[in-house]
Amino acid sequence: MTSVQVVALGGSLLRPEVMERHAWLEGMAAVVAEHVAAGGRLGLVIGGGQPAREAISLAQPLLDDVARLDELGIAATRLNATVVQQILAGAGIDVAAAIPIDVEHAAELLEQHAVVVMGGTVPGHTTDAVAIRLAVAVGAGSCIIATNVSHVHSADPATDPDAVARERMTLSELQEIVGPPEHVAAGPTAVIDPIGVQVAIDAGLPLRVLDGRRLQQLAACIAGEAFEGTAVEVG
Ligand code: UTP
Repeated sequence: MTSVQVVALGGSLLRPEVMERHAWLEGMAAVVAEHVAAGGRLGLVIGGGQPAREAISLAQPLLDDVARLDELGIAATRLNATVVQQILAGAGIDVAAAIPIDVEHAAELLEQHAVVVMGGTVPGHTTDAVAIRLAVAVGAGSCIIATNVSHVHSADPATDPDAVARERMTLSELQEIVGPPEHVAAGPTAVIDPIGVQVAIDAGLPLRVLDGRRLQQLAACIAGEAFEGTAVEVG
C-alpha cells in the first residue's frame, strides 16, 4: 500500500531570517526522497515567508484591499514552491513539472507523480488551508503542518507567560486558540490558519503540527511514526 501524505511547509522554513537555509533545503529533499523510495506519495504546499511579507508591506500603503494584497502573498508562495519543485526535480525525484493553481489539479497530478509541489490558490486564506483541502481531496489520513514552533501552545507564548506546549488536543480546542474562521488581513495570522482549522473540522481530518526545522521529526511524522509536536485529533 502506498501512503499519501500532505505537508504544509511554512514559508519561514524556506525563507528564514537566521537559520542555515541551504542545509535545511538539502535535508528536506532527502526526507522527500526517502518517503518516495519507500513507495509513498507527497503533496507539498509551500508558504510565502519573507518575500510575501516584503511584497505585502511594499504595496500595503497604496492598496486598501485585502484580496489584492493576498494576490501578492500567493505569488510569493508560488515562487517558493517553484524553488522547492526545481530542487526536487534536480535531485532526480519524480515531481510534477507544473505548480498547480488549485487543489483539484494537484490531486490529479498526484495520481501521476510521486510528488506535487504547490503554493497558494485564491485570496482569503493561507497555504495551511490549501494543504488541509489537498489532504482531504487525496484521502490522506491527516495533514502535517510544518511551521517554526515546536507545538501548538495553550495560548500565545509571546504574550502569555502561562502558555504551555500541548502534545495532544482536539480540533475544537485548536479552534478556541486560533479563533473563528475569518480572513481579516493579508500576511501572517495565527499559528494555524483559522480557515484551515474549520476545513479540518468540517472534513473530520486530524492535523499534525511540528517544527519543520527539525527534519528528523518531519521525517518521522511523514513515515507515520511518533514525532515531537502536537497531534490535533477530531473532536
Ligand atoms: P502563507 O501561506 O505563507 O501564510 O501565505 P502566512 O500565515 O501569511 O505565512 P507563514 O506560513 O507564516 O509564512 C502568505 C499570504 O498569501 C496569501 C495570504 O495573504 C497569506 O497571508 N494567500 C496565500 C492567499 O490569499 N491564498 C492562498 O491560497 C495562500
